[in-house]
Amino acid sequence: MSRITNDSETIQQAFSFALVNVLSGLLLLFGIAFNMIRLNPPLALVSLAVVPIMVVATLWFSGQARRAFRRTRLEMGSVNAELQESIAAVREVQAFNRADENIENFRAVNAANRDANIRAVAFTSALAPSLEALGYLALAIVAAVGGFALLGDQSLMGTTISLGLVITFLTYVQRFNQPIQQIAVLWTNLQSAVAGGERIFNLLDVEPAILDMPGAREMPSIQGAVEFQNVSAAYKVGVPVLDRVSFTAQPGQTIAIVGPTGAGKTTIINLIPRFYDVTGGTVMIDGLDVRYVTSESLRRQIGIVLQDTFLFSTTVMENIRFGRLDASDEEVIAAAKLAYADAFIDRLADGYQTVLGERGSGLSQGQRQLLAIARAALADPRILILDEATSSVDTRTERQIQKALERLLAGRTSFVIAHRLSTIRNASQVLVLDKGQIIERGTHSELLARKGFYYDLYMSQFRREEQLGLSSDDGRRSPHVPGAAQFASS
Ligand SMILES: Nc1ncnc2c1ncn2[C@@H]1O[C@H](COP(=O)(O)OP(=O)(O)OP(=O)(O)O)[C@@H](O)[C@H]1O
Ligand SMILES: [Mg+2]
Repeated sequence: MSRITNDSETIQQAFSFALVNVLSGLLLLFGIAFNMIRLNPPLALVSLAVVPIMVVATLWFSGQARRAFRRTRLEMGSVNAELQESIAAVREVQAFNRADENIENFRAVNAANRDANIRAVAFTSALAPSLEALGYLALAIVAAVGGFALLGDQSLMGTTISLGLVITFLTYVQRFNQPIQQIAVLWTNLQSAVAGGERIFNLLDVEPAILDMPGAREMPSIQGAVEFQNVSAAYKVGVPVLDRVSFTAQPGQTIAIVGPTGAGKTTIINLIPRFYDVTGGTVMIDGLDVRYVTSESLRRQIGIVLQDTFLFSTTVMENIRFGRLDASDEEVIAAAKLAYADAFIDRLADGYQTVLGERGSGLSQGQRQLLAIARAALADPRILILDEATSSVDTRTERQIQKALERLLAGRTSFVIAHRLSTIRNASQVLVLDKGQIIERGTHSELLARKGFYYDLYMSQFRREEQLGLSSDDGRRSPHVPGAAQFASS
C-alpha cells in the first residue's frame, strides 16, 4: 500500500516541479557557455574550471541522498504497516492491553522515519551552499586571472583582454552559477523519486505464480466431475503438504474433508480453483486438467465460501451482489431468501440498503455467514467450496445456517471442510486427511463402523454437538455407539 500511494507520490512531485526548471536551467547554461567561448576561449576555460568539481560534488551528494532516500521509503513503509496493523487489530490490542507497547512501537518506527528523512534532507541541503562556495571560487579565479592579465600585457594566451571583457565574464560566471545550483539541487531531490521508483518497479516486476499457459482454453460449462490423481503439493520446496492424494467426486456429490489441524484440508480446496499449482499429479474438472484452462473461466464457475467472510463497507444488497455483479435486485433478494438471510436483513435499519461498517462490522458472525451463503447462492456455481466456520453461533442461527447450507449444496459438486456433523452426515463421501494423506474414506456410518481414526475424531469433536441436538433435525440419528460415554469421559 505504501509503495502504491506514498512512493508514487514522490515521483509525481519530482516530475511536476523538477522537469520544467531543469529544462529552462539547461537552456541558460548552454547559452552562457556558448557566449563565453565566442568572446574569449581562454578566459572561458578559466571561468568553467570549477564546473568539473561541481559535477563531482553533485554526483557524490546525490549518491548519498539516494541511499538516504531509500532508507526513508523503507521507514515510511514500516510506519504505514505498523499503523495499519494496530488499527485493524484494535480489538486484540485492547483485549491484550497492548496499547502502550503499540504506541511505543509506533514511536520507534516514526523516529526511525524522522531520522532517515533528516539524513536525506541534510545531504540535499548541504549541496547548495557547497556549490555556492565553488561559484565564488570561480568568480575569484576569473577576477585574479583577468586582473593580472590587465595589469600585465593585457593579453591572455594570445587573446586581448580588456576591463570590459573581464567585467562581462564576472557577470556571466555569476549568472552561470544559478542554474548549475538549481539543477544540482533538483537532481539530488530527484533521488527521492528514484528511490520510490525502484520500489514501485520491484513491485511491478513481480511475476504472478499462477499464470495461464500459452494457448490455455476456456473452461467449458462445468458439469461438476472433479478428480484428483496422485496429487502432491508443497508451499515450500522440499516440504510436501499433500502426498499423492486421489479421489473422485461425481457431479452433484458432497465431499466432506475432515482431519486434524494442519492436515492439508485447505490446501486441497485451494487446488481446485488453481490458487496454487500441484507439484505432482493432476487436478481434473470434467476430465480437463485445471492447468490447461484460463483461470478466469475456471474461477467464474466455482463458488467459494471461506471461514472468515469478507464483507465490504457498502450496502447489504451490494455485498450479496458481489457473487454475481449483473444480478438484479430481485435475484439478490431471492438468493437472500434461499439463504434464510432475508429475515434478519429485513430487521436491519434500512433493510437491504443498510450500509455495513468496515469488514462488515455491525453484523454478528452468524449473520455474516448467512450473507456469505447468499452471495454464493447468487453466483450459482456448479462447483462449490466451503470452508466451514468454526466460530460457534447460537442454536437458532446454527439451524438456519444448516438449512441454508443444505439448500446451497443441493445439486452442486461441493467440497466442504466440515466442522458440522450435519454436513458430514449428508456427505456422499468423507475424506479423512492426516499429514497430507487420505487415511480413511467412506460415508459417515461406514467410517464410524470401522472404529479407526475417524471414530476417534468423531468422539472427541462431534459428539457434544450431537448431544446438544444440533444435528438431529435431519431425521437420521447416528448409530448408537456402545461405550461412547466412557470414551468421552476417560
Ligand atoms: N501459505 C503457506 N505457506 C507455507 N506453508 C503453508 C501455507 N499454508 C499452509 N501451509 C502449511 O501446510 C500445511 C497444511 O495446511 P492447511 O492450511 O492445508 O491445513 P488445514 O488442514 O486446512 O488446517 P486447519 O484445520 O487448521 O485449517 C500446514 O503444515 C501449514 O503449516
Ligand atoms: Mg484450513
